[in-house]
Amino acid sequence: MESGDRRPYPLATMGNLAGKLALVTGASSGIGEAIARVLAAEGAKVVLAARNKAKLTKLQAELAGSIALELDVRDAAAVQRALEPLAIDIAVPNAGLARGVDPVQKGSPEDWAEVLDTNVKGVLHVLRAVTPGMIARKRGDVVLIGSVAGRQAYPGGNVYCASKAAVRSLYESLRYDLHDTGIRVSTVDPGMVRTPFSDVRFKGDTERAAKVYAGVDHLLAEDIADIVRFIVTRPARVNIGEVVVWSKDQASAMQVARRPV
Ligand SMILES: NC(=O)c1ccc[n+]([C@@H]2O[C@H](COP(=O)([O-])OP(=O)(O)OC[C@H]3O[C@@H](n4cnc5c(N)ncnc54)[C@H](OP(=O)(O)O)[C@@H]3O)[C@@H](O)[C@H]2O)c1
Repeated sequence: MESGDRRPYPLATMGNLAGKLALVTGASSGIGEAIARVLAAEGAKVVLAARNKAKLTKLQAELAGSIALELDVRDAAAVQRALEPLAIDIAVPNAGLARGVDPVQKGSPEDWAEVLDTNVKGVLHVLRAVTPGMIARKRGDVVLIGSVAGRQAYPGGNVYCASKAAVRSLYESLRYDLHDTGIRVSTVDPGMVRTPFSDVRFKGDTERAAKVYAGVDHLLAEDIADIVRFIVTRPARVNIGEVVVWSKDQASAMQVARRPV
């Protein structure tokens, strides 16, 4: 049984990000969509990037001043073309996915390429496009979305876990690369969040996906978005570094409390 605590987060505009231009990749679903909503609620103009144009257009209609950008983050040239001209203040390269839970010896090289190209190279493509402008303007926020999977591997997690370990390593590198440029670098590493993530992982097998969350008081996308909001609304001198977020039912990647459903 879940706690039932599903109170909506207050979305009243606080205006803390008025005048800022934010970029969220993977804004068509789950955590990215929730982040886009809170940044917009804080007054930012949000560039909503993902491949699913229909979902982006729907969200754009709800979020005043936002821009829908159909973009595949794996396409380095397209990312550079679309993002380099924009003066992005806040970049959240959140787009990511997992495919299956097969052991390496049975894994699919096509799935591995999709995961690594999206979760690792996709993040790099975005950073390459937006950070030079931030450096020139001497300010900016980069908030990576890692995972507890980047800190603890689990059976069948292999390539997804490796991709998120790479994001964590990139976070550390970025702190050096961007040191003393005025840019703040953060990573938010969530545990189990209920989103379409597992539907994508299991390629549309929604029954199997639902079992991942059955009986668990899992995190919500809004919980992660609220933390991103906190990070980017701190005073300029404050850089929140790494935030690991678990639901109270999850002690580790493998240790999850489940109640009868
Ligand atoms: N859910 C969890 O338990 C959990 C835990 C820890 C970390 N995370 C991380 O959180 C991030 C968001 O995941 P989620 O849970 O919100 O899953 P989700 O609901 O499936 O959202 C994934 C987003 O990524 C976008 N995306 C995928 N491939 C893309 C590509 N090539 N180019 C552009 N956009 C692409 C998808 O949009 P389109 O299909 O429209 O392109 C979608 O908007 C991921 O990086 C994931 O690894 C999730």
